[in-house]
Amino acid sequence: MKATNIVWHHSKVTKEDRQKLNGHKSVVLWFTGLSGAGKSTLSVEVEKELHQRGIRTYILDGDNIRHGLNKNLGFSAEDRKENIRRIGEVSKLMVDAGIVTLTAFISPYREDRDMVRQLLGEKEFIEIYVKCSLEECERRDPKGLYKKARAGEIKGFTGIDDPYEAPENPELVVETDKQTLEESVKKVITYLEEKGYIN
Ligand code: PPS
Repeated sequence: MKATNIVWHHSKVTKEDRQKLNGHKSVVLWFTGLSGAGKSTLSVEVEKELHQRGIRTYILDGDNIRHGLNKNLGFSAEDRKENIRRIGEVSKLMVDAGIVTLTAFISPYREDRDMVRQLLGEKEFIEIYVKCSLEECERRDPKGLYKKARAGEIKGFTGIDDPYEAPENPELVVETDKQTLEESVKKVITYLEEKGYIN
């Protein structure tokens, strides 16, 4: 049941105050792509680089969040939508807290990613398409999940018998089957510098 009689409370410290204290803007880096494309690997390396530059960061990762906050969700379209909705809301809180937030979720549906974009607003949502062919993801198969999906042991696996809708206008595309990890990290960091998110 939906709550009623609830009132929004304002803090005396604003997001802008927190950003000023931190010395950088806060934003969401939304990594999307197939399982095995390299979302987690890339977000970890980008976070490391940002941290070394004195930037306050945090990673929200699909596998990890599904152990806790979203452990009651599966992989139906409806559950994936709720997964992304919650992460969108958490990301918004983290951005309000002044943190550069990196998210690594397949987030296969365009509509769900656009919902988060709307929630955050254009300036605070950077969609990064971690592009990698299905063939290469399947060749890597770091968790053996593609093999299980092909054997019919996992139903509704993204890219096999469940859809992945590639971004149409992402802020960034990194091609992990064509670029090195270092090149991909540099592309993200350069974008943040050029757009004035970090110095
Ligand atoms: S989603 O689609 O955004 O809600 O998915 P996400 O929260 O990122 O979770 C994806 C990870 O869950 C594992 N897994 C599956 N992925 C896709 N489809 C199915 N059916 C599935 N079942 C389990 C898989 O390890 C995904 O991790 P990554 O890091 O993407 O490989």
